[in-house]
Amino acid sequence: MEILTRIRSTRAVVDGWRRQGQRIALVPTMGNLHAGHLALVEEARRRGDRVVATIFVNPLQFGPQEDFTAYPRTLAEDQRRLSGAGVDLLFAPEVEEVYPRGSAEPSRVEVPALASALCGASRPGHFTGVATVVAKLFNIIQPEVALFGEKDYQQLLVIRRLTEDLCFPVEVVGVPTVRESDGLAMSSRNAYLNSVERQQAPELYRSLCAAADALRAGRPAGRVERETEAALQGAGFRPDYVAVRRADDLGPVSEPGGEQVILAAAWLGRARLIDNLRVRCGGAGTQ
Ligand code: PAF
Repeated sequence: MEILTRIRSTRAVVDGWRRQGQRIALVPTMGNLHAGHLALVEEARRRGDRVVATIFVNPLQFGPQEDFTAYPRTLAEDQRRLSGAGVDLLFAPEVEEVYPRGSAEPSRVEVPALASALCGASRPGHFTGVATVVAKLFNIIQPEVALFGEKDYQQLLVIRRLTEDLCFPVEVVGVPTVRESDGLAMSSRNAYLNSVERQQAPELYRSLCAAADALRAGRPAGRVERETEAALQGAGFRPDYVAVRRADDLGPVSEPGGEQVILAAAWLGRARLIDNLRVRCGGAGTQ
């Protein structure tokens, strides 16, 4: 696996592959990799001739009170895992390479229709930061396909929308959430849980499963949201939100039926956990 930190040299390598007619698959990450990231790489290998992974802890997507400085950085171990998973090129730039004029006032990509609700309401500017860096990575690597985890469901929709609106010729693929054996969605932020919280954490997934059952049974979305929030509180979480939305655009569910998604964000100690489940109401099947 080649490891590069500069845009110019990364472009040169990827351009060479493209000239040979090879299809480029991109897996953007912030590092501190777990099995969920490796599932993205695996899917990328199925869909591309060459896999480019990126590791970049993007300051623009962290709020002033958030964990940018404390975010776990594990580059050596990440390199080992990516190389073992069959990544061809790792692009791991410094902040100055991506934001040469500083990250305070770069040109930005806004996705207003999707970015201000749910996680965007509690993390103002977060999705603008994500959209901006993803657009930059699309411009630098120019992949045919890019892979993102469905655990960050709102992020996935934001990226799909910006790709469509800005006419990037990139296929955006969502990869199902990878879970621990007790159901907890894999996340770099699970490392913030102490041992007692780690025992409590799977209750988030269990509450979403119960909510999905209730929605499939025809229970109104508002009631399911309230009951799920109460269940999370009872299990020791500080819920940020629980919301039932249309799965394709996160719009409000005005009538029963169709593909819905139940999303939740909740604090447990110093970890803000998020998870979601898609639910087909009036038919069969969930995520
Ligand atoms: O999901 C992430 O790890 C990040 O938000 C992403 C997509 C790599 C952008 O920084």
